[in-house]
Amino acid sequence: MNPIYPLRDRMVSRVQRENRQGHKGLVVWMTGLSGSGKSTLALALERKLFDEHCQGILLDGDNLRNGISRGLGFREEDRLENVRRVAETARLFLDAGWVAICSLISPSRSMRDLARSIVGNDDFLEVFVDAPVEVCASRDVKGLYRMAKEGALSGFTGLDAPYEPPGHPDLHLPTSELSPEECLDLLYQEVVRRIGPSPSLQDKKASC
Ligand code: ADX
Repeated sequence: MNPIYPLRDRMVSRVQRENRQGHKGLVVWMTGLSGSGKSTLALALERKLFDEHCQGILLDGDNLRNGISRGLGFREEDRLENVRRVAETARLFLDAGWVAICSLISPSRSMRDLARSIVGNDDFLEVFVDAPVEVCASRDVKGLYRMAKEGALSGFTGLDAPYEPPGHPDLHLPTSELSPEECLDLLYQEVVRRIGPSPSLQDKKASC
């Protein structure tokens, strides 16, 4: 016997929340190498949604590793547990009708499939933030590629730990070929297509 009794059916429903706020919820799962541009784009998307009066929140790998994923390292099983925790957190926001923007390397297909299965296929937008490892290493915003090359950091994704690119991402953003503005445009368009027009857009239409 499982002595747990979820309250789900008596809670304010996701649909009720979505109807009141004027857009649907979604989980935007941004995967890619360190330095590929995930956090930059995720931050810009969060800001854009906020400006458009949409409910959005950024769940960033580096931030969460200071909180719910504190104590986890970078071995495969730790990364898998990190992904599971982030996906479960995203699902809570989804239940509240929010757009949860998850920005984490999530290096293997099986990890991302786990996230998709936790969230549910219809609500999961997989975004491949794609830049060659040489480009990421030359950007080296955090100085971690240099540390890894000098041997001060081991198991670094893309150097001595694997990254499996998504086979069929819902959206592919080649950040070494497009500008950040172009990437954000593509990302925002796809999000709006999935969540419906933003409340501020609806206001504008209503006043026309
Ligand atoms: S994941 O693999 O579990 O999805 P996550 O996105 O949460 O990774 O964390 C990656 C961040 O941790 C990187 O952006 C980088 O700042 C830092 N980091 C520290 N050690 C490593 C490592 N060995 N491999 C990759 N990233 C690392």
